[in-house]
Amino acid sequence: MINKIKNRLREELEKSFKEKYNQEINIVVEEPKSSSLGDISIPVFSVVKVLRKGLDSVVEEVTTFIENTSVRSLFKEINRVGGFINITLDRIAFSKMVIEENVDVLSKKYSYGNNKTVVIDYSSPNIAKPFSVGHLRSTIIGHALGNILDKLGYKVVRINHLGDFGTQFGKIIYAYLNFGNKDLVDKNPIEELVKLYVEFHEMAKDKPEMEDKAREIFKELEQGNLEYKELWEHFREVSLAEYMKVYDMLKVQFDSYNGEAFYNDKMQAVVDELKSKNLLVKDEGAMIVDLGESMPPALIQKSDGSTLYITRDLAALFYRKNNYDFEEALYVVGNEQKLHFEQLKAVIRKMGYDYADSIHHINFGLVLQDGKKMSTRKGKIVKLEDVLREAIALSLDYINEKNPDLDNKEEIAEKIGVSAVIFNDLKNYRTNEIEFNLNDMVNFVGQTGPYLQYTSVRITSVLEENDFVYDKLDYNLYALDHSFELIKAIAQYEEILLKAKEEYSPSVIAKYLLGLASYFNSFYAKEKIVVEDDIERNTKLCLISIIRNILNEGMELLGMQVIKKM
Ligand code: ARG
Repeated sequence: MINKIKNRLREELEKSFKEKYNQEINIVVEEPKSSSLGDISIPVFSVVKVLRKGLDSVVEEVTTFIENTSVRSLFKEINRVGGFINITLDRIAFSKMVIEENVDVLSKKYSYGNNKTVVIDYSSPNIAKPFSVGHLRSTIIGHALGNILDKLGYKVVRINHLGDFGTQFGKIIYAYLNFGNKDLVDKNPIEELVKLYVEFHEMAKDKPEMEDKAREIFKELEQGNLEYKELWEHFREVSLAEYMKVYDMLKVQFDSYNGEAFYNDKMQAVVDELKSKNLLVKDEGAMIVDLGESMPPALIQKSDGSTLYITRDLAALFYRKNNYDFEEALYVVGNEQKLHFEQLKAVIRKMGYDYADSIHHINFGLVLQDGKKMSTRKGKIVKLEDVLREAIALSLDYINEKNPDLDNKEEIAEKIGVSAVIFNDLKNYRTNEIEFNLNDMVNFVGQTGPYLQYTSVRITSVLEENDFVYDKLDYNLYALDHSFELIKAIAQYEEILLKAKEEYSPSVIAKYLLGLASYFNSFYAKEKIVVEDDIERNTKLCLISIIRNILNEGMELLGMQVIKKM
């Protein structure tokens, strides 16, 4: 909200100068060096420079203009210090505006996105391979970004670009047909398919002809061999069913599950277009696009004619542009694919498409356990479903310790456990590595998901026992230091949402919510809320109700669950 006031002030001042002098002058509106000087500060040096007038007369003129702006009623004091004009907000007027704008924060949908479309490619695990912790990060970050963009008024298309194609399927099909077991695969698809894949490689060491056979199988699969296609479909289906368990627990959904295979019949067009634009170069039998000194070339087609990951990504991008006419295309994928997305953009640019700059690789860091890269435990696959169950079990232990008589303990433990994992990820700026320690993340104290949920529950329990109405408020009370701290925090919410979008990082919201919760908790420790005086009680209840609404909505944007009791 303060930013809105500042922007309004800047625009109106610039307009006043334009009208009077017919000159464009950039007015700077900033925060004062110290909060004791006020809330807003305007250095006038840029005006002095353009108008070539003395400092005193410029200060006087700017001050007069400020006096006539539409936001004047929100200011209590306007003071000059040298070449700066410092403004102190009128706490009462400001509080009134903040409360009025946030009473219905939950039903508010912003229109910053103008209904423009953003496609987000996230999660995107590889069929017949485990859903890794990297895919978990992608799922959590992508889902939250989708929610935030939606709140800001964008049209969001959520795409799970499944890794369901590639030469490995030739190997898996070969292994399955020669030494696989259907029942085992159906019962435990991913584990068994991974086993078959590993076994294939062990055996192929002594029997290199297996590799050729697998290549042949894949080629036939690409060309539509029915038996292979059926098997591939089966593997895809059973794998997806396993991923779905994780998605259900996380409450994540997608608009499209079109994976790499979907683009199988759309790749020739890409190759043809590259050819016609004279971008394809033959290199030892393969087809590449040269990307100059700064990057290795993009490998588009292998010597045997099969296409590659980037070819499928090009086809997918064109498909998305044509079908969704996106304003932005986001790819939530780990740091290790940085080069791949740089190449993708570079090829698009070379092809002459101007939307290369609207493609963003939303990268993220590794997941660590005890400081080491977390992926497999002694060669065993870590099943994410089991990890989430462990988080839930730990949350249930906590409840049993703190509030053993709580109703629906299991259901609440599930909401706490899963949300804890989500928050542990999102409280970190995405490109940083994150430490995965279940005990730390389900803790009810500290910078955790349960701490936020607990703060919300605390407020809810006060609100449920007391009635309040928004039209009987004493704004003088909001001007007092403890309350005004909360008013200022509420005022930041909209700007925080915008910043999260700008940085494509939900952590901006996560950190803000931690601050909001801690402001509330210290307010609650210092101030009695349910006081005798009707107006004072009502005024305080309304304030904490808005805090609770923002906490709840913020948690939901992150993909967490809100609870009423814990
Ligand atoms: N399946 C890939 C992997 O697990 C991620 C795909 C990301 N999306 C994309 N369009 N390339 O590494």
